[in-house]
Amino acid sequence: MFIRNCWYVAAWSEELSGEFLTCMIINEPILIYRKSDDSLVALEDRCAHRMSPLSLGRREGDDIRCMYHGLKFSPAGQCVEIPGQEKIPSRLCIKSYPVIEQHSWIWVWLGDPELADPALIPPAHGGANDEWYLTRNHLDYDTNYMLICDNLTDFSHLGYVHTESFGSDEQWAQKAPTITQLDRGIRMSRWLSSVPPIPPLGEAAKHAVVDHWASYDFLVPGILIFYNALYPVGTALQANLEAPTEALGTPLYTHYSIQAVTPKSEATSRYLYSWGPSKSLGTEEESAIMRTILLKAFLEDQVIIEAQHKVMEIDPSRKPIAIAADKGVVMFQRTVERLIKAEQQLIPLVTTD
Ligand code: FES
Ligand SMILES: [Fe+2]
Repeated sequence: MFIRNCWYVAAWSEELSGEFLTCMIINEPILIYRKSDDSLVALEDRCAHRMSPLSLGRREGDDIRCMYHGLKFSPAGQCVEIPGQEKIPSRLCIKSYPVIEQHSWIWVWLGDPELADPALIPPAHGGANDEWYLTRNHLDYDTNYMLICDNLTDFSHLGYVHTESFGSDEQWAQKAPTITQLDRGIRMSRWLSSVPPIPPLGEAAKHAVVDHWASYDFLVPGILIFYNALYPVGTALQANLEAPTEALGTPLYTHYSIQAVTPKSEATSRYLYSWGPSKSLGTEEESAIMRTILLKAFLEDQVIIEAQHKVMEIDPSRKPIAIAADKGVVMFQRTVERLIKAEQQLIPLVTTD
């Protein structure tokens, strides 16, 4: 079961380089294209006649003609032409989804179009921004998307899964973050003291260990907005383990990541991410190095999560047993459940009389 009333990331903007981009989001096949005025259209990729994919069809102006029996559909999803037939039944239509291009991502709203509020798109930075050098990438997973969300709401795994890529310390498991409930997600923040710098770049590379402030919001459906600042050892205590302020001076290095987990189906997901240093403390070359580190790290995640998914499928009656480190996992899962329940209560009951 998935939240419907939210913006899902379909793709990076640059993935729509050809005529059509196709994707699957919460079991719905979607076709995305640009109209002649450059605005985006997101349509159900399934002809209303006999369900041939419209992505195998032909653009005619801003309309799409299905290349099976020739029905033509407008960007609003309405059939506007049936070859050899004058009358067009009004029910001969397909879904047209609200779609927005923001932060270098294409966001699609899968729920009630009346509720598609652009303000619900999480605040983030895309490729074109003044603050960060960000490189972008994505991975396709053979798992339920909540297993990836679980991974991202519990960084205790860093000291075990990412020793090779990030060189991270077991302190990530030993020091619990402060977790705050947000309306549509959670916020996790923590200081790690005297840990190897992630990444060992810029001024931070001159220090064997640093104090690391790591803080992120994880918002539905699975959007992570992550700020990191590395300081000389001793800074965490100087800050009383509170969020850093300017009074602490300039960090050695800062970096930022935005990530999105999008469920394609119950057992497949898409994971899109960017990462990079601040323009004031890092360089574009370092951003490219970070891209390589991050891909290595996220392939490490993919191996363990897909293996976990396979084992979980053997006996679905076996349920995870929560430990203290799962606090964020459970809080986010409950947030998703609460929002799904709220949506269901909005659906009018169908009566038989
Ligand atoms: S399936 Fe599209 S026109 Fe028949
Ligand atoms: Fe990870």
